[in-house]
Amino acid sequence: DDIVTRMKNIELIELGRWRIKPWYFSPYPQELTSAPLVFICEYCLKYLKSSKCLQRHLAKCQLCHPPGNEIYRKSNISFFEIDGRKNKAYAQHLCLLAKLFLDHKTLYYDTDPFLFYVMCESDSRGYHMVGFFSKEKESTEDYNVACILTLPPYQKKGFGKMLIEFSYQLSRVEGKTGSPEKPLSDLGLLSYRSYWSQTILEILLKMKPNEAGERPCITINEISEMTSIKKEDVISTLQHLNLINYYKGQYIITISREQIQTHNRAMERRTVRIDPKCLHWQPKD
Ligand code: COA
Ligand code: NA
Repeated sequence: DDIVTRMKNIELIELGRWRIKPWYFSPYPQELTSAPLVFICEYCLKYLKSSKCLQRHLAKCQLCHPPGNEIYRKSNISFFEIDGRKNKAYAQHLCLLAKLFLDHKTLYYDTDPFLFYVMCESDSRGYHMVGFFSKEKESTEDYNVACILTLPPYQKKGFGKMLIEFSYQLSRVEGKTGSPEKPLSDLGLLSYRSYWSQTILEILLKMKPNEAGERPCITINEISEMTSIKKEDVISTLQHLNLINYYKGQYIITISREQIQTHNRAMERRTVRIDPKCLHWQPKD
């Protein structure tokens, strides 16, 4: 793509109760890009050029949630699974919306090979999209996430980590380990690093130490199986946390008291978690 077509082309969008400033270019139709504000139906994600058009659309639009099946619900958080082949218009609109906040991803016009998992917060009016991730139906490289997005008004509140946790919960049900598609954005890498670190430390610290303070052996493979995090990512996380030490002829994992305290404080802030009991889902084969 040349520089010109990649310039940010939309000033502002209105989506449900939010007005959001896009970050990047997205190939919305040319006639929309001159408007100061693009209106998007928060349920079907159709784009409209004026408030009047949106009102007219809302009078007809039957949806108060994403299409597809609600596969998870716990209190006011729900996940919907959307098949990119069966709900093509929705999937394409979702990709257009996502591209406004993704720099490096190519946009998939062919949504057939993807499933979309949309996380919503519900209230008396309906289900409001918080974020989503897409996933290839078949991945030869064990990717369990293609794109992942938290809408800007919901960012930095822990929802990204919930989306990530959900993606690994699906992999667990599939009996697989998975990894996000590369390259990750800076924010994507930050979020994954944080999720991997917390998840792996949680497992390591659950293993009760003996009187000498030593915890039992665990292998990289075991950590990978318990978390559905791909082995390479387990290793890179252990290295990143600087936990692997060579001691008396063998590799051991050592966690400092300070790391444990930092971890515990971080986990106290992670109040909303994915509850596996609330997921009603079987992989299609
Ligand atoms: N600056 C610094 N740290 C940030 C950050 C920011 N702007 N946004 C998130 N983080 C860190 C958080 O501090 C948190 O780590 P911590 O708990 O160890 O402090 C971690 O990333 C996850 O935060 P969380 O609130 O769960 O994530 P989020 O809801 O903000 O969503 C993304 C994270 C990546 C999904 C979101 O930034 C996004 O949608 N970005 C645009 C799309 C994108 O780049 N996707 C990834 C590539 S496909
Ligand atoms: Na990604």
